[in-house]
Amino acid sequence: MSTPTTAVQRHDTGAWWRDAVIYQVYPRSFADSDGDGVGDLPGITSHLDHLASLGVDAVWLSPFYPSPQVDAGYDVSDYFDVEPELGTLADFDALTTRAHERGLRVVVDLVPNHTSDRHAWFEEALAAGPESPERDRYMFRFSEDGAPNNWGSLFGGPAWAPVEPLTGREEDRGWWYLHLFAPEQPDLNWDNEDVHAMFREFLRFWAVDHGVDGFRVDVAHGLVKAPGLPDDAVGPDRWGVVEPATEQGTGGAHDHGPKPPDSGPAFDQPGVHDVYREWRRVLNGIRSDVLLVAEAWVDPPSHRALYVREDEMSQAFNFDYLKAPWDAGAVRRVIETSIAEHDAVGAPTTWVLSNHDVVRHASRFGYAPGTPTDAGIGPSDPQPDRELGLRRARAATLFMLGLPGGAYLYQGEELGLPEHTTMADDARQDPTWLRTGHKVRGRDGCRVPLPWTAEGPSLGFGPSGRTWLPQPAEWAGLAPTVQNGDPDSTLSMYRRALSLRRERSLGRGSAEVLDGTPEGVLAVRNGTTLLALNFGDAPAEIGSAGTVLARSTDGSTGGRVDRLRLEPCSAQWLALEDAG
Ligand code: GLC
Ligand code: MG
Repeated sequence: MSTPTTAVQRHDTGAWWRDAVIYQVYPRSFADSDGDGVGDLPGITSHLDHLASLGVDAVWLSPFYPSPQVDAGYDVSDYFDVEPELGTLADFDALTTRAHERGLRVVVDLVPNHTSDRHAWFEEALAAGPESPERDRYMFRFSEDGAPNNWGSLFGGPAWAPVEPLTGREEDRGWWYLHLFAPEQPDLNWDNEDVHAMFREFLRFWAVDHGVDGFRVDVAHGLVKAPGLPDDAVGPDRWGVVEPATEQGTGGAHDHGPKPPDSGPAFDQPGVHDVYREWRRVLNGIRSDVLLVAEAWVDPPSHRALYVREDEMSQAFNFDYLKAPWDAGAVRRVIETSIAEHDAVGAPTTWVLSNHDVVRHASRFGYAPGTPTDAGIGPSDPQPDRELGLRRARAATLFMLGLPGGAYLYQGEELGLPEHTTMADDARQDPTWLRTGHKVRGRDGCRVPLPWTAEGPSLGFGPSGRTWLPQPAEWAGLAPTVQNGDPDSTLSMYRRALSLRRERSLGRGSAEVLDGTPEGVLAVRNGTTLLALNFGDAPAEIGSAGTVLARSTDGSTGGRVDRLRLEPCSAQWLALEDAG
């Protein structure tokens, strides 16, 4: 299948993000400048050279806004400022200026499905009472006997909280508010004009006054709910924790199957697209190339392309690629389907393997293909095969970085960091752990503060040795200072791949999957470059001649080969000879 051209002509075909590699920074865990154990904006600024030398195009910052941190910043109490623990607006401007000086664009997180319960609006809503204009900004409903419908929170427990315990007022008896996530994250009402106005203002504030280059839209498939809020098919216990799947019910990767898809009346409603059309109009009035990228866990996956039509978003995370098992056929299907569906709307697809919500891919790939890890991993769970996980992760990443379109990296994956799979349960902070009655461990294992040096009590994360989540001791050997001079290191592989990707314009290229490759081998031709990945446990060969550009197993390159030989669980890039 060849996909060099697209039938759809869009105004944004020259936009910077179409082939960009965007690096996700999780601010609390990137670098700590003041020793309080929490990463901060000055910490990020002080390590921008790492990102510039890595060769990425942009940095996306997870939320750094004022927040009670019930959901690590995804509970925003003020959309127009910086959380004091993380810095100031001046620190943000300094970060952006320094990033731009290095040619790095800056993307910020936009959290429109819910605010924090400490947002002035929610406090005003509670104070104002039933059926007030203040309450109309949120999803308050009256229901005398029990919750207004059967929806469950994605973090466990029901999605409705009673109002009366919060206000202590008689007239609030029977009133509830909706929270798809924690109760401290009340859902906004997107039928309310104030809500629209605030987010239009948010776009202007950050893109005009503070010079950001794009927005990552949190829960982009949420926001608008089906009229009448009918029951869904999943019910209130989304994680199935009331009756644990095993006797012990200790939680973790192997106690729970995959979490149910985000489908039904709370998600992916047609009306949500009007919101993105509105935002695109606002942004087009500012600059034509401001990125909007959707976090949309849609089901069916074909709906993803609807979010990236020309008058809506620019990109959407390709979670099908992230979720694909270690299997050549499955990955081939995802690649071909994604490209075809995005081509139909003239949008580039994206590729992603890790983020702050999933088990790091160096650990996911250390389990048998298809093992569910949605619930996180803890000390009592079977542990991944670390060496195999990293070997496969490097292969998967090298292959991914050669594909056309955009790519997203998550901080620390360039070091080959595994998940912290043995974190003590009493250190956990993810609200899921508490809300599921300590059954679903959640996402802390991928959010651990980064190692920057092999020595020091917090491995260079900060000056004091404090870290808000504990670091595993083995991470010392993975610090950039250890990997920098080693051509075989994971960090060197990422740098090589990103520099070749740019040199050979692979992000702007096309993908043609070769037929007739040996079983378990996936080979894609992108212009004059061949990308090959051997999923199998035995060596394999393909009859392509050329010069080796990059290998996932080590740093040796430059050799000419008549046939490409692939070691087990490895990937290579080849400059093709017959590519005239
Ligand atoms: C998104 C974020 C996740 C957060 C949730 C609620 O899925 O990526 O971290 O918990 O939204 O805002
Ligand atoms: Mg700090």
